[in-house]
Amino acid sequence: MIIGIIGSGAMGAGIAQVVASAGHTVRLLDQNTQALQRAGKSIQGSLDKLAEKDKLTVEMAAAIFARLHLTEDISSFADCELVLEAVVEDLGVKQQLFREVEMLVSETCLLASNTSSLSIASIAAACQKPERFIGIHFFNPAPIMQLVEVIPAVQTRAGLAEQVRDLVQSWGKLPVLTKDTPGFIVNRVARPFYGEAIRMLEEGLADMATIDWAMTELGGFRMGPFALMDFIGHDVNYRVTESVFTSFFFDPRYKPSFTQKRLFEAGYYGRKSGRGFYSYAADAALPEP
Ligand code: NAI
Repeated sequence: MIIGIIGSGAMGAGIAQVVASAGHTVRLLDQNTQALQRAGKSIQGSLDKLAEKDKLTVEMAAAIFARLHLTEDISSFADCELVLEAVVEDLGVKQQLFREVEMLVSETCLLASNTSSLSIASIAAACQKPERFIGIHFFNPAPIMQLVEVIPAVQTRAGLAEQVRDLVQSWGKLPVLTKDTPGFIVNRVARPFYGEAIRMLEEGLADMATIDWAMTELGGFRMGPFALMDFIGHDVNYRVTESVFTSFFFDPRYKPSFTQKRLFEAGYYGRKSGRGFYSYAADAALPEP
């Protein structure tokens, strides 16, 4: 299968690695040359590490990388059988992308979004053929995280969700079919997890390190809420919170916090920018994911 992925940031690059590893030809597109080059390097680095750990042979790693084609030219998507976007969490941008994609691809090409929080129906609504549209929501880092949410929209044709679920399973992932409701399963449950942690910090009940420590050491979570928000990125995480809050008609259970909004406004996105709740300067101790 030839799969086109739009957006080569944290998610797009990881998803490209997953599907190339599963044997597909991948066209990975970004409008930003540096982002595309970074993605190429990070996928190469990740495959090299797997080869060092004997999880892949050097030849297998090279074959996977050879299936990956980095591009800034969307016309190269004409032969794609599935196009999945992982660009900025902005409805207008995603809708505009699919208008362009549909003018290029065949009528049978499937269209999918990796959105964390926007309604699949609203993105599909921009398409000429919304019945071939579906949500395929990976988790970060995509090559490591097993779960993938598969989300049919009201417009999605009958049977497509099951077909995509089987496809995702063939990539070595654990798919779960979810309803097209704000945040789907995981991001809905995660909003109060982050929100309460920030509220506890604001109320002075405990500091970040203590809350993170309690959740990992005592609660059994892989990462505490502050380390996890820094890992995801506040640009992404804050937008998702705002979107879930709005989509639930301003239900206060999902209300965003000013503390996170200020980090977002300042460009303190977390690990990716060197500073978020924690500092990631070269000499600072990093909480590990
Ligand atoms: P990111 O900021 O790391 O990457 C987004 C990439 O899209 C950038 O490289 C940017 O240059 C590119 N881009 C933006 N507009 C574009 C356009 N019109 N055409 C081509 N490229 C364009 O973002 P990230 O974290 O990879 O998130 C992407 C999507 O995945 C968002 O919808 C987000 O909600 C979702 N998501 C994010 C997760 C996370 O933990 N970061 C987890 C699951 C889903």
